[in-house]
Amino acid sequence: MTIFNPNTLVEITQQFGTPAWVYDAAIIRHQIRQLRDFDVIRFAQKACSNTHILRLMREEGVMVDAVSAGEIERSLAAGYSNSDNSESIVFTADLIDRETIELVIQHDIPVNIGSMDMLHRIAEVAPHHPVWIRVNPGFGHGHSEKTNTGGPNSKHGISLEDLPQTVALIQQYGLDLIGIHMHIGSGSDFVHLSQACQAMVEVVKLANVDIRAISTGGGLPAPYTENDVELDTNSFFRLWDEARKEIENHLGHVIKLEVEPGRFLVANAGVLVAEIHCLKSTQQHNFILVDAGFNDLLRPSMYGSYHKIEVIHQATNQRQASPLFDPLEYAVAGPLCESGDVFTQDASGVICHQILNNPRVGDLLVFNDVGAYGASMSSNYNSRPLAPEFLIDGGHHRLIRKRQNISDLLALESV
Ligand code: LLP
Repeated sequence: MTIFNPNTLVEITQQFGTPAWVYDAAIIRHQIRQLRDFDVIRFAQKACSNTHILRLMREEGVMVDAVSAGEIERSLAAGYSNSDNSESIVFTADLIDRETIELVIQHDIPVNIGSMDMLHRIAEVAPHHPVWIRVNPGFGHGHSEKTNTGGPNSKHGISLEDLPQTVALIQQYGLDLIGIHMHIGSGSDFVHLSQACQAMVEVVKLANVDIRAISTGGGLPAPYTENDVELDTNSFFRLWDEARKEIENHLGHVIKLEVEPGRFLVANAGVLVAEIHCLKSTQQHNFILVDAGFNDLLRPSMYGSYHKIEVIHQATNQRQASPLFDPLEYAVAGPLCESGDVFTQDASGVICHQILNNPRVGDLLVFNDVGAYGASMSSNYNSRPLAPEFLIDGGHHRLIRKRQNISDLLALESV
């Protein structure tokens, strides 16, 4: 569990208001170090795509995965460049549009191919372009069915049945095949990640083609509750290193081993801070209403994800909750006009509770472990502006994204 200094959070929100996202650079650096044994750590920036976070990653030697033209532009803005053949940006998707094709060609960005359609489109305009094949090994696993990206129900990747034909097409076109990539899902566990590792060896043999790298994909878990076990990164690396060696023996030369985490690097490094605006009890629940909604933090509404919530008391606040029943347990909800706007709910939408210490109107609530898929999944639903982001580094904090305002939203519509 992350520990942020409450004084820093109070200082930030007194100056810039709530809600606000706050990240800790030291935690991100610590997580990067856990994976240092891999030849390449490639950050799945969809987890947290602020350019200042990307710049931090680049300074730490971490490469980057992009899944849209926007994410390519973000990588370039953060100083990533493939001009020196570094392959520091890779584009991964199941479809590619004209704008993105132009971008990947212009910046020499390898494309991780998730469909045959994509392969044809690239090859037609750039027949020697560097590519990866993203393989769906026939099974997948994630923290939710919505984040499981393998098996017959998944739209992602090249299936094992289509693999021989994909390889044949790559060779016919003369595309430059870098390697094989496998991402079975997000928020997976050690058992399933190990299965993917075994599958990789078989897939490489089945593909029967020369490659210079393999990617384990992402999906590494992060702890959200006291009971969650942290990933044993040494065992995880050793497992993949053995698979790599087996593949090297098969190919007769060395290859690179990549890992592509999003959540693992940033989840525990971020909090969302909101202010309590209202306390209200129904016959079922003691509700705390805060000024952040699922337009800010979607994960509880989307997956029933648990984020530990804590209170920071503000000395001047007096108005206390008058809970009807169990005085300690609260349901925490936002301001949106939709009943699913509740941060304490399970995957089927049943409202749950968290134990909070004497919350009062005007106090701050801290939502923990939201550094991954927090700000990056925010929207403008209910015409609510995006919240600002801050980065704490070396004892100081700085604004890394301003708060949006209503004029920003309206400006797009003055056509
Ligand atoms: N590589 C690929 C090709 C991916 O699609 C993803 C995640 C990753 C890497 C990184 O996965 P990670 O290491 O973060 O588990 N919104 C969901 C997560 C969706 C992830 C989608 N793809 C959530 O909030 O849990």
